[in-house]
Amino acid sequence: MSDTKSCAMPTTVDTDFMTLTRFMIEEQTRCEGATGEMTQLLNSIATAVKAISSNVRKAGISRLYGIAGGSNVTGDEQKKLDIISNDLFISQLKNSFTTCALVSEENEKVIEVETNRRGKYIVTFDPLDGSSNIDCLVSIGTIFGIWKKEGDPKGEVSSSDVLQPGSSMVAAGYALYGSATMIVLSTGCGVNGFQLDPAIGEFVLTDRLITIKSRGKIFSINEGYSQYWDKSIAKYVESKKYPGEGKSPYGARYIGSMVADMHRTIVYGGIFLYPAHKKSKTGKLRLLYEGAPMAFICEQAGGKATTGKERILDIIPSDIHQKTPVVMGSTFDVDDYLAIVKECEAEEKK
Ligand code: AHM
Ligand code: MG
Repeated sequence: MSDTKSCAMPTTVDTDFMTLTRFMIEEQTRCEGATGEMTQLLNSIATAVKAISSNVRKAGISRLYGIAGGSNVTGDEQKKLDIISNDLFISQLKNSFTTCALVSEENEKVIEVETNRRGKYIVTFDPLDGSSNIDCLVSIGTIFGIWKKEGDPKGEVSSSDVLQPGSSMVAAGYALYGSATMIVLSTGCGVNGFQLDPAIGEFVLTDRLITIKSRGKIFSINEGYSQYWDKSIAKYVESKKYPGEGKSPYGARYIGSMVADMHRTIVYGGIFLYPAHKKSKTGKLRLLYEGAPMAFICEQAGGKATTGKERILDIIPSDIHQKTPVVMGSTFDVDDYLAIVKECEAEEKK
């Protein structure tokens, strides 16, 4: 005898999941005058991320660990995976027919897209950030920022097209190759997270409208450089370690991969700092493809991002590989740091 009730049994399989592509198409239909180019562009980024993720996951077996023998424009050794990831990104972006110029951490000059494949977007990216963590299997990531070229996309790309402030960005995101692969994305209307389901090869919306707590309990900085810090950073870190009677100290976490450190900061709250110091007067992180895209995501999630002197998104770049000090995360935590900067400046003036 058949059990008719079993037909109505609830299933545990979600058959109406939201993929990144579907999410973008839905956003596109809500946006008057949208051409679908952004959806096409983000699809090509998602494809590159899937291919990078696949290479990262099998790097040991495929002997992709170790250095490739060269160094990039900032003098960092290029790892084999750095180069593969860069090639994947460039190829997918060029062949999306949506971009006119690309800026990569791994390429000294702006990569201009051939005229017949050009579209209106300019994309900056660090194809594989946190390279020093590749060979020991610690989380690494990809960071990207997207700007629009004003005027004819087929026309010549000028330096002012490429050197736009972060506040002009139309979208930004990062991919994290951690215990799962995830894309965190903002097109300027909040931040959403999509995890890669390896079984179907699709990014599925898992974290809708991510918001960062206004205050966290974690600070994240490379304390190995403390002898080079300026007074404000030293004072701030001290205030979190020794907050005074009855108050709990903050926890310290530092992975050394900006994407992983920032993802934790966004999910748990707290603050991430890569400041300028005596040995590195402008810090280490690059504005166009590390600082600005991450600041965009952070602000879109309700956080704050500063150099200590100005909002990161307000900086007008003068060079594609320019560096910037970075302090970002929960609003109240960043405000605490800025208050100490002010105190130190006032003391110096005395
Ligand atoms: P990379 O782009 O060469 O990988 O360098 C950037 C990375 C960031 O992910 C991370 O925040 C920082 O370098 C760590 O630097 P340090 O080892 O000096 O703490
Ligand atoms: Mg990097």
